[in-house]
Amino acid sequence: MTIREFRAGEEDAVASLIFESTNGWYERNLNKKVFQGEAADCRVFSEVYGGLDPGCCLVAEVEGELMGSCFYHPRETHVSVGILNVREGGGGRGVARSLMEEVIDRAAGRPVRLVSSLMNLDSYSLYTRLGFVPTGMYQDMLFPEGVRGLEKGPVGWREVRADDVDELVRLEEELCGIRREKDFRYFIENALGIWRGSVMEGADGLEGFLFAVESAGSRMLGPGVMRSEEAALALIGAEAQRSERGRPVFLVPAGETGLVRSLYAAGARNCELHVSQVLGEVPATAGISMPTFLPETG
Ligand SMILES: CC(C)(COP(=O)(O)OP(=O)(O)OC[C@H]1O[C@@H](n2cnc3c(N)ncnc32)[C@H](O)[C@@H]1OP(=O)(O)O)[C@@H](O)C(=O)NCCC(=O)NCCS
Repeated sequence: MTIREFRAGEEDAVASLIFESTNGWYERNLNKKVFQGEAADCRVFSEVYGGLDPGCCLVAEVEGELMGSCFYHPRETHVSVGILNVREGGGGRGVARSLMEEVIDRAAGRPVRLVSSLMNLDSYSLYTRLGFVPTGMYQDMLFPEGVRGLEKGPVGWREVRADDVDELVRLEEELCGIRREKDFRYFIENALGIWRGSVMEGADGLEGFLFAVESAGSRMLGPGVMRSEEAALALIGAEAQRSERGRPVFLVPAGETGLVRSLYAAGARNCELHVSQVLGEVPATAGISMPTFLPETG
């Protein structure tokens, strides 16, 4: 097996690998599909990660065939790992482990962070065997029949702007102990036309922010960081109602029981569970953090 960087021209091959591997695993184990459309929808992963972190996709090749792929994202404080896939039928032979070992090597001692499904023992086991430590549990939620009772435009809510970036970075560093300025600049620049974001202003600065992605390959709210449950609820309500096609998925910390209760009351349902995992130093956290899968950061 050779582990090497993805080459220009392999976008469709990697998109098919992601589509077939993810849908195959979920259909076999959980009787559902993650991607509803077609393989080309998964080109969004190499487009976004190629724009944000050029050259940070690794592939595993066995006898000329692509057997696995993995995106990683060097950030100021850590390295995060994005979608990881092994070809259907190629599991259990160390392909994923080899890709992850290369990512860990390239992280050169920086903490490596990811979010993995708690309904997927294959990935949970892979990461914990490599030394990752679970740090938080998240409920994946959506509003199947729309949002009930959350105002669309709460006081202080507004569209995110380029001059907010410094404050977004400060807020996330204060509450979550990580920095990723280029992600925020990338979303606001919105070269692919798939991002939007909003902030909640308080008396002493930002109370929170929430981005959203809307593409055929990923329709989610996040990433987001909020000081309070009220800010989280207002931003989730506002962004869920702005979604053009509706029903975006969002991850909320399971330990935020008041927020979860309010979301149930507004019509939200659970669709999966995820866990954040870190290899290396785990910073102290406060407030509410909503991770997402594109680009991934737990
Ligand atoms: C999850 C996935 C990437 C794993 O790929 P893989 O190539 O089969 O994984 P590997 O063979 O490299 O490693 C699996 C490890 O988990 C271990 N493992 C698997 N099930 C286990 C269990 N129930 N308990 C303990 N360990 C277990 C294996 O022993 C192996 O560890 P080892 O190398 O130390 O022996 C693959 O199943 C996949 O692509 N799934 C669909 C997409 C997905 O879920 N991606 C991950 C989330 S983004």
